[in-house]
Amino acid sequence: MSEFWNQKFSRADYFYGDTPNDFLRSQVFRLKPGARVLVVGDGEGRNGVWLAEQGFEVTSVDYSSVGCEKSRLLAARKHVSLITHCADLLTWAWPIAEFDAVVSIFLHFMPDDRRQVHAKMQAALAPHGWLIIELFHPKQLAYQSGGPKNCDMLNTPNELETDFTDLNWWLLGEGLTRLAEGSGHTGLGYISHAAGQKAPAVG
Ligand SMILES: C[S@@+](CC[C@H](N)C(=O)[O-])C[C@H]1O[C@@H](n2cnc3c(N)ncnc32)[C@H](O)[C@@H]1O
Repeated sequence: MSEFWNQKFSRADYFYGDTPNDFLRSQVFRLKPGARVLVVGDGEGRNGVWLAEQGFEVTSVDYSSVGCEKSRLLAARKHVSLITHCADLLTWAWPIAEFDAVVSIFLHFMPDDRRQVHAKMQAALAPHGWLIIELFHPKQLAYQSGGPKNCDMLNTPNELETDFTDLNWWLLGEGLTRLAEGSGHTGLGYISHAAGQKAPAVG
């Protein structure tokens, strides 16, 4: 599958643009200055690089080697640095309780893989750490603005609630939004998104 993404990203411009996702931009106020942020499935780096520009300590992971290289180029162009790992999230040695935030934007899996990766994302959060996540809802199948065409890879807010059991939700919703993210996501889209904070360990 990484070859699928390598092909999509093998172009001069940035497939999803080089500016951040709107939901991420709207939620970043929750993070403290200098927070350690893990950006999973960061593609060509538009979100990770923007977070680095905001002064966060960013670790960006994606299994597309082309995407990772374009993330590094974008970071250099913006004069910021971030750590990039070109790795498969299904086999990556995930850090535990190390991040003040995990950001996941349009990262879709089949159900078993999704549950596994979401559990790792939750475990990677330090106590009080934030999850910021946006992905396409099953209703997206009625729209032409991008995303997987397999309903099993699309998720409701309820599924997010079920996957992330250790979080207190501050925002959990779904709805129509107008996407203007490069040529990859253009037009009306139906999304699920959430912001949740990891409960501190008890005892
Ligand atoms: C729809 S793109 C979104 C990219 C980026 N988050 C954005 O919004 O611009 C999905 C990304 O997830 C990455 N991805 C999918 N499965 C992955 C896996 N198992 N391990 C690492 N990256 C993965 C792909 O390479 C691709 O860059």
